[in-house]
Order: sequence, then C-alpha cells, then structure tokens
Amino acid sequence: MRMYENFGSDERIIHVCVNTDCAMRGSEAVRDRLRAVVDESDSDLEVNDYVCFAACEQGPNLLIEHSRAFYSEVTPQDAEAIVEHAEGGDPVAAIDRSSSFIARKIFNMLDAGFKPGDLSLSSDT
Ligand code: FES
Repeated sequence: MRMYENFGSDERIIHVCVNTDCAMRGSEAVRDRLRAVVDESDSDLEVNDYVCFAACEQGPNLLIEHSRAFYSEVTPQDAEAIVEHAEGGDPVAAIDRSSSFIARKIFNMLDAGFKPGDLSLSSDT
C-alpha cells in the first residue's frame, strides 16, 4: 500500500517545460500548438508554462497532471494526440516516458501533495 495514495491530482492541466533546454528544443512552439488545439476543441484543459522537470536532455518535456503521463521529445505535430490523451484517449506511445525513473519521481511528488502549478509561471494561480 502506498502511503499517499489518496493524494493523486485531478487538475486538468498540461504542464509544458519552457526552461532553457526545453525551449531551445522547441517547447514554446509545442505549448503554443497545444493551446491552439485546446482552444479549437473548446476543451477546458489548461496548458501551463512550467520550469524544469530535471529531464532536460530529453526535452521538450510535458506532464499531463490528471492522466499521470509524462512525454518527452515532443513536437508541435504531437499536440492533437496529446490533447486526445488528456481528454481520456490513449497514450501517445512513441513519446510516452511515463514509466521512466524521472516520471515516477514526479508522480511520487504528486502523490505526496506537491502541485506542479505551485511553481508554475502562470500569473493567475
Ligand atoms: S529544461 Fe525542460 S526539463 Fe529541464
């Protein structure tokens, strides 16, 4: 039994790392395309700027908080499939790193009550 199993997240947020390494690999274009797809689909998903998951060398990285999904080497062309996954669809297998060591550490922090948005760049939180 996990100690913090009741503390999972239900926030409908996609956190996109826009720190230096991920930005150099195109994460801002990924974020912008995700926001466009969300807007076009009339979804209530939020796409949030985030600063560093400590997986910099495999960026652009993003976390779908409520799906417990972590994606790496994301491109703008992945945006539609990522939003589909965030809306309850299937994971995007080619870029899914949710079983990686760093993803498990992130999920452990979520289980412990840590909210990624607490350190986000969004000004409305
Ligand atoms: S710069 Fe994106 S994970 Fe570190």
